[in-house]
Amino acid sequence: MKRLDGKSALITGSARGIGRAFAEAYIREGARVAIADINIERAQRTAAEIGAGAYAVEMDVTSQPSIDAAVAACVKEAGGIDILVNNAALFDLAPIVEITRESYDRLFSINVSGTLFTLQAVARQMIARGRGGKIINMASQAGRRGEALVAVYCATKAAVISLTQSAGLNLIRHGINVNAIAPGVVDGEHWDGVDAMFAKYENRPLGEKKRLVGAEVPFGRMGTAEDLVGMAIFLASAESTYVVAQTYNVDGGNWMS
Ligand SMILES: NC(=O)c1ccc[n+]([C@@H]2O[C@H](COP(=O)([O-])OP(=O)(O)OC[C@H]3O[C@@H](n4cnc5c(N)ncnc54)[C@H](O)[C@@H]3O)[C@@H](O)[C@H]2O)c1
Repeated sequence: MKRLDGKSALITGSARGIGRAFAEAYIREGARVAIADINIERAQRTAAEIGAGAYAVEMDVTSQPSIDAAVAACVKEAGGIDILVNNAALFDLAPIVEITRESYDRLFSINVSGTLFTLQAVARQMIARGRGGKIINMASQAGRRGEALVAVYCATKAAVISLTQSAGLNLIRHGINVNAIAPGVVDGEHWDGVDAMFAKYENRPLGEKKRLVGAEVPFGRMGTAEDLVGMAIFLASAESTYVVAQTYNVDGGNWMS
């Protein structure tokens, strides 16, 4: 018996990166997974590559009609949603005196409003169905403390940790567990972009920031998406039924709390 047999999952931002790794893992554990992403072409390609168990759904977490349409698509395709991973997010970087309102609004709209209103829409569906559910928000070590050049992203991830606590306390009465994962530094396309931004602001050659942050991890290297999969399966499975409103660091020892 697999740990997610018969379950239906919706993972936002799963066309690539960590979300894609979670989708593959959930399917290995017996679930059906909606590869929900604003980049529908990439989501379709990813779903086709993963194969049976995966289907693509176009979704922009900043748009309420798009959130509602994605939930409806999952209900139509899989009968409902048992597991939600709020994974879609955007990163930006700037010194405090250069932060723009446009960047602030975009990051909060995707990382915070997107998380809350996707969680709300899926929770409504879970409550109506009466079978409980599992909601996993992607936080970050960035939400545990500030960083000189990363004020807005850090603030969005602190908000995700706080929302996880409030939603976790509010929804457990419906049998819905809300918890979060706080990764450290995870190699992939996301961090290639982060590295390029640091190269600009800290005047470094490309690749140097990645090398430095990896060397600082107590484990001895950057994480991989696969390193997070065990926690993602645990929080989606019956094994985590008594786990409520928590944010777990999975970061090779980068942060302790
Ligand atoms: N990579 C890391 O080092 C790291 C560290 C800590 C936390 N995280 C968090 O983990 C999660 C996944 O990170 P990743 O590295 O895989 O990121 P990524 O940038 O590789 O993937 C993000 C995905 O979200 C999609 N997306 C962007 N805007 C969207 C929107 N409005 N609606 C729907 N989808 C949208 C993108 O198309 C992309 O497929 C994020 O929440 C991120 O903040 C990542």
